[in-house]
Amino acid sequence: MIEANELKTTTTDPAVAAMTCVETDALFAGLERALDNGRGFVFVTDAGGRLKGFASLAAMRQAFLKGGHLTSQTLGDVAEPWGSSSVLLGVEPVLNGEGRLIGIDEDVPQPFLPVSEPDLTHREMRYAFDAFLSTWISSTGDYIRRFEQDFADKVGMAHGVATSNGTVSLHLAMATLGIGEGDEVIVPDLTFAASINTVMHVGARPVLVDVDRDTWCMSAEAVERAITPRTRAIMPVHVFGRPAEMTEIAELAKARGLYIIEDCAEAHGAKYDGQPIGSFSDISSFSFFANKIITTGEGGICLTNDADIAARMRMLRDHGMRPERRYWHEEPGFNFRMTNMQAAIGCAQVERMDELLAMRADVNARYVKALSGIPGVSFPPAMDQRVEPVTWFSCAQVPEDKRAELIAACKAVNIDLRPFFHGLSSMPAYRKFARKCPNSAWLSRTGVNLPTSRRVDDAMVARIAGVFESVLGRNS
Ligand SMILES: Cc1ncc(COP(=O)(O)O)c(C=O)c1O
Repeated sequence: MIEANELKTTTTDPAVAAMTCVETDALFAGLERALDNGRGFVFVTDAGGRLKGFASLAAMRQAFLKGGHLTSQTLGDVAEPWGSSSVLLGVEPVLNGEGRLIGIDEDVPQPFLPVSEPDLTHREMRYAFDAFLSTWISSTGDYIRRFEQDFADKVGMAHGVATSNGTVSLHLAMATLGIGEGDEVIVPDLTFAASINTVMHVGARPVLVDVDRDTWCMSAEAVERAITPRTRAIMPVHVFGRPAEMTEIAELAKARGLYIIEDCAEAHGAKYDGQPIGSFSDISSFSFFANKIITTGEGGICLTNDADIAARMRMLRDHGMRPERRYWHEEPGFNFRMTNMQAAIGCAQVERMDELLAMRADVNARYVKALSGIPGVSFPPAMDQRVEPVTWFSCAQVPEDKRAELIAACKAVNIDLRPFFHGLSSMPAYRKFARKCPNSAWLSRTGVNLPTSRRVDDAMVARIAGVFESVLGRNS
């Protein structure tokens, strides 16, 4: 296999090489390199390394759509001169006296930095293209099987059942376990609404519990207090990559004969007591939405170690049809299937999962270093040694009365800062189930999610720190 980074370059500086193609390179070389460098464009030079211009993903996509790859168009044909339209690319080429590209200056105005961006490389592109070319574009195909197995292996589980998103995977889990009318499911107050919505959609009653002030998740103690004779299941949510105390919750569930449906949408790769989260429950559910640690665009998966549960999930996912008897339905099921095209992207992402986790951890470490001394800023409490959290979105807490101003100041310089979820008890949709949840309310009033992507390097963090200082006062 040839990789874009094996192409001939005109520079020995790896940072410049990752951003550069030669004008005689094929369109696809530029596409792959612009994806891999995460900037969405490449510099285009002549064979002597002199800057000819740049080729953006947008321009290369246009050329591809017009069939440029058929007429052997090269990057020289699509390159635009460096100038006014390149202003918002976030870098400036550094040239020597002969016009040769010798470096990259990032100390220039930056394009909008969202809280999250999908991290897609040539690998995802090749697999998705391959799935398309195979014509298996619907919900059967080799990539589906491979993705289900690869992701289940990653979490150490026997069976994976891929779904169209991480909401229906929760729904499928509960439907498979027969949870419905008359049942109660214990859900934490601080989570994305999909956790509680799905409990309501299967007809069960959500019982909200406050989260722990340190872990930010439900505690076994809070769960124990919420158990009633109607409780059928516990839904721990590992919010923002922080694992709930799963050993204790699993012991409690076993002692009280309750199911656990783990909502791992935000914590791929995290561990508790050395064991991957997602492996403590009857069924665990993950999301692969575009802002998640790994993505399939839209997508989800249910994992289980129980072959019968897996078989029932497969049947319910596919309209409740018996796999060995086409068009025979023993109960009304759903169409909760993932497509082979999504799974193809997922296969590449699973291969890159450790790299993506490391990138997120690095970004988080940069924020902790740069923002920790700023008045009123704090980071999530360190977790017990038994716990290995991961970074989904980097999180910080800021003074409640300054949060809106801080978000506005970041927005003014093109940086996205997002407030935490609202506590479920505070919202009209869940008024019937509201409980006093002071910890969740406090987190939701003070928490912010920071941009977490590979564009967040030291220079970007310094910029963000500058905005924080302008609103909150100087770093001590
Ligand atoms: C905790 C939690 N559960 C469930 C979901 C739902 O996942 P999806 O967006 O894939 O439906 C999300 C994601 O947004 C989430 O954060």
